[in-house]
Amino acid sequence: MEDMKGGIYGSHLPAMQAVMQRLLEQIGELRRQIAQGTGFDPVEHCLSRIKSEDSMREKCRRKGLPETTDSALRHIHDAIGIRIVCAFVDDVRVVRDHLASLDGVEVIEEKDYIRHAKPNGYRSYHVILRVDGQYYVEVQIRTIAMDTWAALEHHLKYKKNVGSRTDLLIRELKRCSDELASTDMTLQTIRDMILEDWEDSE
Ligand code: GTP
Ligand code: MG
Repeated sequence: MEDMKGGIYGSHLPAMQAVMQRLLEQIGELRRQIAQGTGFDPVEHCLSRIKSEDSMREKCRRKGLPETTDSALRHIHDAIGIRIVCAFVDDVRVVRDHLASLDGVEVIEEKDYIRHAKPNGYRSYHVILRVDGQYYVEVQIRTIAMDTWAALEHHLKYKKNVGSRTDLLIRELKRCSDELASTDMTLQTIRDMILEDWEDSE
């Protein structure tokens, strides 16, 4: 079932890459459309990846699934991953709606960790898409501030020697997340005011 070339993804790898590429191009198109209209590009940057062979196998084991193409493509939904980092909070919704409306794209699952942040302070909007009835894509949409926090928290998670100050660090990280969220709200308000002035002057 698994050919050597595509590893755990077998012969599906080129099609997966094509799906990822197509979504990236569609996001690029949305950016151009919106930026032309308002002067604000809703996307700051975009990252994408196919989950590596090692992490996919590790995830199969963690979930108690056999390490097969079927597990990787049907039971695990983040073999293809796209992270869209937006400048402003409202852009997250714009990007989400755009993705949901694309031809051949179904929304399978959504997790709104922006409205309901994780207890540790993680904020992001997650959408699982199914493309062409076949390939699942995990899309994480978040602001620059949320992305900054997630990157820092990711680093700290792997530093196990924080020892006696763990509770303090967890509390401080949560506080940073809340402060960043409050800053995001202020930045959004500033952007809205700029847009209002711009619309008045049109
Ligand atoms: P998995 O079994 O790992 O896929 O988690 P899940 O099915 O509960 O999905 P969830 O939407 O919570 O997380 C999916 C991805 O979001 C993770 O692989 C991370 O990239 C990111 N993520 C979720 N929680 C955190 C967090 O607390 N901190 C950071 N830095 N990233 C997170
Ligand atoms: Mg996941």
